[in-house]
Amino acid sequence: MTQAERPTVIVALNLAADLKDKIAQTCEVHMVPLGKPLDEHVPADVRAKAVGILTTALTPIKAPVFAAFPQLRVSSNMAVGYDNVDVGAASASKVVICNTPGVLDAAVADVCMAFILNLARKTFELERFARDGSWTKGSPPLSMDVAGKTLGLLGMGRIGKVLARRARAFDMNVVYHNRKHDQEAEQAGLASYVGRDELFSQSDFVSVHIPLTPETKGSIGAREFGLMKPSAYFINTARGTVVDEEALIAALKDGKIAGAGLDVMAKEPLDPANPLTSLPNVILQPHIGSGTVETRRAMIELAVDNLLDAVAGRQPKAMVNPEVWDAVAQKAAK
Ligand code: GLV
Repeated sequence: MTQAERPTVIVALNLAADLKDKIAQTCEVHMVPLGKPLDEHVPADVRAKAVGILTTALTPIKAPVFAAFPQLRVSSNMAVGYDNVDVGAASASKVVICNTPGVLDAAVADVCMAFILNLARKTFELERFARDGSWTKGSPPLSMDVAGKTLGLLGMGRIGKVLARRARAFDMNVVYHNRKHDQEAEQAGLASYVGRDELFSQSDFVSVHIPLTPETKGSIGAREFGLMKPSAYFINTARGTVVDEEALIAALKDGKIAGAGLDVMAKEPLDPANPLTSLPNVILQPHIGSGTVETRRAMIELAVDNLLDAVAGRQPKAMVNPEVWDAVAQKAAK
């Protein structure tokens, strides 16, 4: 292949040298800083010929990108969530969208389980108690067993199922609510199905596992927190804006719920002035559910393979809109 024939791809994330080399073996690579709008940050001559994009969920992949990249065949997201992408507009432009499902399930479920254990056992409060001299002045507060408590999974996809297995190993009861019944999970004794309101009212821990879509945006609010027990905890490792964050803050302040473990917020990075940062009954993490060295490597490898496969006309492993694949393959064959 001559230099001129090599397909051009845009890489809008930080890439380890070996993976950059892997892409560079067959493609011309144009690097763009993380999260920057591509229609503004890629020069017109590169936009005119680029056939592939590799990004994180921080880069918007919407109508302006499809208009600005006329040759585009694939946009590969290094994330399982793809709320940064307008999938309808991608399909209309015959662009296949790829993501990284499966490889991050265990890492995210581990963070949920860590929130459950740390909230129940008051780990952070007791750590302060042991450290700041409170122990010399009196007895530490008692915490709560997780065994026998009910975990409610709102959404029962891959991550929900892995979390159900972890919770069952801690002798928790697991209930779930999902658009579809998960017969396999029920038959395996992993979780039983309940209505949405029952999920909020019965659970000692509610953990959110739904994608962000126009339908789910703000779908958990004052009504849902009002259904929860005052002793119950709310856990979100999905997307911040599926929750009405003001209603969550009010529920935490008013004691409508006991506390929360949040890996995601309505606006990220979290403003230090956000009231969440000063609530003692909240554990916060900076959107790092999948953030282990091993999992991030698996995600970027899958995202790079998805990109290179689609560019070369081989069907990628993980496609969000597989219905456009035939049209994309035809473009790649030309
Ligand atoms: C992370 O939030 C992801 O969607 O992979």
